[in-house]
Amino acid sequence: MCVCVCVCSLTFHCVPAFDVHLFLVDKLQCVARWFEQVNALPVCQTVAQRVQQQKSLESLKRFLQKQPLPPRSRANRGRATLVSLPQEGKRNVLITSALPYVNNVPHLGNIIGCVLSADVFARYGRLRGWNALFVCGTDEYGTATENKAREEGLSPQEICDKYHAVHASIYKWFQIDFDHFGRTTTEKQTEIAQDIFWRLYDRGFLIPDTVDQLHCENCQRFLADRFVEGICPNCRYPEARGDQCDKCGRLINAVELKDPQCKVCKRTPVVRSSAHLFLDLPKLESQLEQWLEQSMSTGNWTSNARHITRSWLRDGLKPRCITRDLRWGTPVPHPDFSGKVFYVWFDAPIGYLSITASYTDEWEKWWKNPEKVELYNFMAKDNVPFHSVVFPCSLLGAQDNYTLVSNLIATEYLNYEDTKFSKSRGVGVFGDMAKDTDIPSDVWRFYLLYLRPEGQDSAFSWADMALKNNSELLNNLGNFINRAGMFASKFFEGRVPQMELQQEDKRLLAQVGFELRQYIQLLDRVRIRDALKCILNISRHGNQYIQVNEPWKKIKGGDEDRLRAGTVTGVSVNVACLLSAMLRPYMPAVSATIREQLCAPANCADAMFQGAGSFVCTLPAGHRIGTISPLFQKLEAEQIESLKRRFGGQQVSARRFSFLGASPDTTFIQPLGRHCT
Ligand SMILES: *[C@@H]1O[C@H](CO)[C@@H](O)[C@H](O)[C@H]1NC(C)=O
Ligand SMILES: *[C@@H]1O[C@H](CO)[C@@H](O)[C@H](O)[C@H]1NC(C)=O
Ligand SMILES: *[C@@H]1O[C@H](CO)[C@@H](O)[C@H](O)[C@H]1NC(C)=O
Ligand SMILES: *[C@@H]1O[C@H](CO)[C@@H](O)[C@H](O)[C@H]1NC(C)=O
Repeated sequence: MCVCVCVCSLTFHCVPAFDVHLFLVDKLQCVARWFEQVNALPVCQTVAQRVQQQKSLESLKRFLQKQPLPPRSRANRGRATLVSLPQEGKRNVLITSALPYVNNVPHLGNIIGCVLSADVFARYGRLRGWNALFVCGTDEYGTATENKAREEGLSPQEICDKYHAVHASIYKWFQIDFDHFGRTTTEKQTEIAQDIFWRLYDRGFLIPDTVDQLHCENCQRFLADRFVEGICPNCRYPEARGDQCDKCGRLINAVELKDPQCKVCKRTPVVRSSAHLFLDLPKLESQLEQWLEQSMSTGNWTSNARHITRSWLRDGLKPRCITRDLRWGTPVPHPDFSGKVFYVWFDAPIGYLSITASYTDEWEKWWKNPEKVELYNFMAKDNVPFHSVVFPCSLLGAQDNYTLVSNLIATEYLNYEDTKFSKSRGVGVFGDMAKDTDIPSDVWRFYLLYLRPEGQDSAFSWADMALKNNSELLNNLGNFINRAGMFASKFFEGRVPQMELQQEDKRLLAQVGFELRQYIQLLDRVRIRDALKCILNISRHGNQYIQVNEPWKKIKGGDEDRLRAGTVTGVSVNVACLLSAMLRPYMPAVSATIREQLCAPANCADAMFQGAGSFVCTLPAGHRIGTISPLFQKLEAEQIESLKRRFGGQQVSARRFSFLGASPDTTFIQPLGRHCT
């Protein structure tokens, strides 16, 4: 946009005789007015003057080359203005990632567990030709926001505005390509949550009861959830919150805490009773089980999601309180409960619907269309029960033909190697620090996806990241793609040579086809980490193939040898082109660079799915490729040292983490969306 505006403005300044009005037909007069308005903006004037002072067109060109490229992905897909709605005859895939809680900066565990995983799957789905909608947003209500607001001396709304922007910019840096990234503090949220509430109420699924609650006489308020801390009745962890223990993960009823303390004034609260409404889960249990059986048998639920859900059902469902004596939340519309708000567990998942409603007025086409829409929910495993039991019960009870989850995708936990994770000290790797490391966003994506805690916990390690970067990206993947392109440009004048396939080439292509079929099968089942290994396997095979066939020697031989060198080069360049397509969901920028270097046709990714998973040649003999340059650079020891110094050892400030430190503790990166539900 910025570049575009500057160009328009320069057009005016640099070519004074040029009159847009002359060649814009009547209907485009609004465009002409827009030109004029933009031209009048002080920033454009300044830029134009700066460039004009350098006079020559050459400097204009250089100036423009220095500007960042405009974001292209959206324009390329042509969904910039088109709202995506379910389509007849297409596979309609609705993708959500757990809503990150707004009161802090997300860390790597949050990013891989929710938004990045969902992003890879959404990108894959679009490549696959599915009609996919990917929504997410910040979860903004609740006591955590109120607490943070008090700490920072801001209002809850100001806290939400501030951290919503922080989240949005971090996800942008990680190239998370949401169709819409919204928030829960909206009118739509109130409207939809209250509608679901009344539907549940009218159908007898909400039961009133009085609840004993902790009340702080000093602060004059009920201490729900995060307003109180004490000793966990289950594991005796001393800093358990009023709703959940961070140590053992159990849900807690605040009155069960030993030695409870008001978080604000540190005094001991008293027990008082208050009237609340409960969602009658036992009454919905058989309906839920029926639906679950069907969803789990046809959909792709991760095994942890299945286990956690079954264990909840085995323990038997109890009514769950959906209201709270708080201010910062969606108001309960019933007059007998005025002044109360919905509890976040009830309210936040409704955010998926309201965020979609902020994206399009026709949101019901996605959310009340269970026959035509497949819903994928991405989250870390601690969020499972709220997506598989509590929220589906709200929707089943509301009886409005809602789209329920058909694929529940939960990750395990990502551990952090060398420093104790601490909520209070904020130790861990945070999203906004990633970009300060100068490691490209694609490389971060690669390493996090390579580590994705899929099926088991995994651990982030700086040393391992450097190793994988240098061994897998540089020596394996980058090396293969670079050599393939270099042979074509050095030995064959930048053209794909004639190929005559022999046994050896066919064997490579069979291996490539095998890995490609694996890749598709795995990604169809959302096995994101495993599918990435297929890509690396292909380039490993490719490197071996080049090593054995030695095109750099054969090119100096007789006709037959030269033909061999050509075939090996042509096959390798085509495999590199396939790799660029397979990489697209994982490393979008690197994928685009490869495509550019090879001058690959825009539709080369379609070839992935054309041959029913077997290899299709997309760059025929004679195809001219572009300029080849290395995709990755080695991380030098010197660079490691400097990063080490920058982020080094001592936790001087709350947001520091240790780089390649020596402490043996393995720590727990708290998964995001703990509060999502
Ligand atoms: C998972 O997804 C794949 C591909 O969409 C589908 O073929 C399969 O039936 C699904 N269900 C299970 C239980 O694997
Ligand atoms: C639910 O919605 C779908 C699509 O809008 C419609 O075809 C179907 O008949 C509805 N089912 C019920 C039970 O209302
Ligand atoms: C990749 O290759 C290794 C070794 O050849 C093999 O064991 C593994 O199964 C392959 N992985 C995938 C996902 O194809
Ligand atoms: C990984 O490689 C990139 C270049 O491809 C480099 O800029 C980056 O510093 C490396 N990072 C690590 C952690 O090795």
